[in-house]
Amino acid sequence: MTDRRLLVVRDTRAFLLAPGETQETDLGVLELPDEVEPGATVETHLGEAFEVRRLRGTDLFDHLERTGAPMMPRDVGLVVGHTGLSAGDRVLDAGTGTGVLAASLGRLGAEVTTYERDPEFADVARDNMALAGVTDRVEVRTGDLLEDLANIDGPFDVVTLDTADAAAIVEHAPDVLAAGGYVATYTPFVEAARDCIAAAREADLSDVECLETIQREMEFDDRGSRPSTAGVGHTGFLTFARFRPRLQ
Ligand SMILES: C[S@@+](CC[C@H](N)C(=O)[O-])C[C@H]1O[C@@H](n2cnc3c(N)ncnc32)[C@H](O)[C@@H]1O
Repeated sequence: MTDRRLLVVRDTRAFLLAPGETQETDLGVLELPDEVEPGATVETHLGEAFEVRRLRGTDLFDHLERTGAPMMPRDVGLVVGHTGLSAGDRVLDAGTGTGVLAASLGRLGAEVTTYERDPEFADVARDNMALAGVTDRVEVRTGDLLEDLANIDGPFDVVTLDTADAAAIVEHAPDVLAAGGYVATYTPFVEAARDCIAAAREADLSDVECLETIQREMEFDDRGSRPSTAGVGHTGFLTFARFRPRLQ
């Protein structure tokens, strides 16, 4: 089931509304018509215009209902770039959390099986997948991936892990990865990244690397140009490893 809500935006105002729904704003009351199409302009009862559009991938971070801390767009991009993930890939993901990563990969055309051990978070994530329009490609399973590894129907091209027990799952990566496939872990602390590196080496994975993402926004104004003094600093460490079965 796909969620029919659309973004109704003007400047920094953004409302997620279903056709027929009403929203009070500081510019008057908005009523989204039943037959509205993306690209339309709607007016409040005071005649103030808003633009109607579909959600894009970049809107997921701001508009999915939040449970577990979502992965930031810059880190999603690195996971895609470093694993070569593309349409048709099979992805095993945990934990789902808000589902920003799972939904983003689904929107790229990957077939995603994502595990969330908190049943309430899993329910929210299913609604989020509907909003992101990926219920046909992203299956949210309620459960603990580590406990369910024996029941997984692999192989997967990419395994993405954003959990505290990621290293314990990395140990089993060769059992679920296709030849040439990647495991990517996202850990806020370097100690956990170190555990993932050790687990990847122990599992005889190759191309093991750990990256810290540093991104600075630049500001340009009349006084000059410089990196922004505000914004998000550290997010997490990304550890990648690849499964290359040894030839006998
Ligand atoms: C930081 S959030 C993940 C956010 C997600 N990557 C996103 O982009 O929205 C971590 C989630 O993993 C779940 N979790 C932790 N360990 C797990 C496990 N072994 N199996 C399944 N879910 C797990 C937690 O309940 C939590 O919701």
